[in-house]
Amino acid sequence: MTQQRQEKYRQYYQVPDYTITDIELDFVLDPATTIVTAISRVKRLNSQANVLILDGKNLILHTIHIDDKPWTAYREEAGKLIIESVPDTFVLKVVNEINPLKNTVLEGLYVSADVLCTQCEAEGFRHITYYLDRPDVLARFTTCIIADKSSYPYLLSNGNQIDKGETNDGRHWVKWQDHFPKPSYLFALIAGDFDVLYDNYVSQSGRNVTLALFVDKGNLDRADWAMVSLKNAMRWDETRFGYEYDLDIYMIVAVDCFNMGAMENKGLNIFNAKYVLAKTETATDKDYLNIKAVIGHEYFHNWTGNRITCRDWFQLSLKEGLTVFRDQEFSSDLGSRSVNRIENVSLMRAHQFAEDASPMAHPIRPEKVIEMNNFYTLTVYEKGAEVIRMLHTLLGEEQFQAGMKLYTARHDGSAATCDDFVQAMQDASNIDLTLFRRWYSQLGTPLVTVRDEYLAEKQQYLLHISQITAPTSDQAEKLPLHIPLDIELYDTQGNVIPLQHSGRAVHSVLNVVKVEQTFVFDQVNSPPIPSLLREFSAPVKLDYSYTDEQLALLMQYASNDFARWDAAQSLLSIYIKENVVRQQQREDLILPQHIIDAFKSVLLDEACDPALKAQLFTLPSENEVAEWVAIIDAIAIHNVINFIIQKFANEMAA
Ligand code: SER
Ligand code: ZN
Repeated sequence: MTQQRQEKYRQYYQVPDYTITDIELDFVLDPATTIVTAISRVKRLNSQANVLILDGKNLILHTIHIDDKPWTAYREEAGKLIIESVPDTFVLKVVNEINPLKNTVLEGLYVSADVLCTQCEAEGFRHITYYLDRPDVLARFTTCIIADKSSYPYLLSNGNQIDKGETNDGRHWVKWQDHFPKPSYLFALIAGDFDVLYDNYVSQSGRNVTLALFVDKGNLDRADWAMVSLKNAMRWDETRFGYEYDLDIYMIVAVDCFNMGAMENKGLNIFNAKYVLAKTETATDKDYLNIKAVIGHEYFHNWTGNRITCRDWFQLSLKEGLTVFRDQEFSSDLGSRSVNRIENVSLMRAHQFAEDASPMAHPIRPEKVIEMNNFYTLTVYEKGAEVIRMLHTLLGEEQFQAGMKLYTARHDGSAATCDDFVQAMQDASNIDLTLFRRWYSQLGTPLVTVRDEYLAEKQQYLLHISQITAPTSDQAEKLPLHIPLDIELYDTQGNVIPLQHSGRAVHSVLNVVKVEQTFVFDQVNSPPIPSLLREFSAPVKLDYSYTDEQLALLMQYASNDFARWDAAQSLLSIYIKENVVRQQQREDLILPQHIIDAFKSVLLDEACDPALKAQLFTLPSENEVAEWVAIIDAIAIHNVINFIIQKFANEMAA
């Protein structure tokens, strides 16, 4: 049965008429004919309803029972199973058949290589059985898997293993129980033959957790780092967020045949092996850092995504933006904060800004969705994380963590919204976030223009700040956003000038909330050099007319490594843009000596971290440069970047 694709709108969200509190799933596994028995406890939520409508795709229905009685009042239509005249609460038993071998959409249960495995986010569970396949229906899952023992020695699902046995026909079975209510997209099943790396972890409160990492046969020599990363992630989440692991076992499956990148199924994360397996002979440092980040990311979902999940798919950034923020912080706390920040910001500028400027642009919380799988985007993930980071900047670590605690206390075990999250942050901090919420609904990259003025007679420095977001086809009128703008002022010797106004210290994070705003700083004895948008404190484009000398000074003396890198990028951008024009007009390309000297002094500065030096000498990517020009001349951009790299190489070698 084919289903017409329909637009869904966030504003029309409705609480489901029924919910399912518990489900017992029974799988008789076979690649071509798998029989699924689902016994669900169904509860009516809407007193007006008496029709239960379940989702189901590519399923062959065998039987339906309600409270042990065969049920015939049902019909199948367009991806739904409609069961009529149902009681208030009842036990629904559905038996159906699926063909994992023919499952080429790779949603639900499919065969890949010799493994049977699942991918249920976002709407894959409906390819397994008829169900309320929506994230706001949370049930306790018990899963029994029976399969041929020689082909499938490992039968894995979510939760703790509670029983197992063998049949006398060469098959075996394993029963899993996950007592944490979860939506169906977090269900997972894997059957196959693997090598296993076991370890264990003792949590903060003394819980002993078995750790098991399942890999394709022969890959054990590449599994160690993923295990180390997992243990680091578990410890870090306890220390920084107070989140402890909650089951007796944590399983990771890392196999070549998994088609999604990574998935946070409760207690049973699944990865494509290429993202998490490495050995020193073939992997780079960067590979190791990426493994740490992605293992962390999926682990951190246990609280931000699994224990507290999303009410509907429009809220995807609630779990993804927050979890990306958490994995970025994990990488920063355990590695170089500045290098991590630089990489995250480069990704935003080179790719998310491009998405925001394209026909694919959407707010971090979309309003309208046809196919959910199209919304696993840089905007939802990376810009979503920047929005969380802005909250962190506005609240500070202590109040942000108070907000996290309140959010957890309010929503643990349930499905929440982005608004719920912001509300918890607001209530815990007493900071008014009304305006801030626009970041969730307004799409596009704001342009922040800064003009300054120095009043020598008053010893005052003024920053005139304006913001504009270009109109888009679905949002003609853009409203001002709450932009935290982190700044510092320097004198010409590179010393920080304290920020003050009317005898009071001024916080370095300015609250830009209007279309136009002026900030006044007193006791500034000479025209200062502003360091603006430090740490990329908001996902915006910045326009300020820096001179080469100002940027060179910031690159050499700014107190913060990110600001040094950003100044270097701005300095390079001036000559990249100029040279693109020169290239188009067939003029000689230039890079003045004072620019080369400034970079050389950084290179020779022994106090400067080598990792930072490497970043300072990394040119903006061609994608990022494409964002700066109205008409993209790919060849000119490519030639100019090559010219600067060559020039640097020749000059720095001397
Ligand atoms: N939910 C998965 C993840 O973000 C797949 O996108 O890790
Ligand atoms: Zn994620």
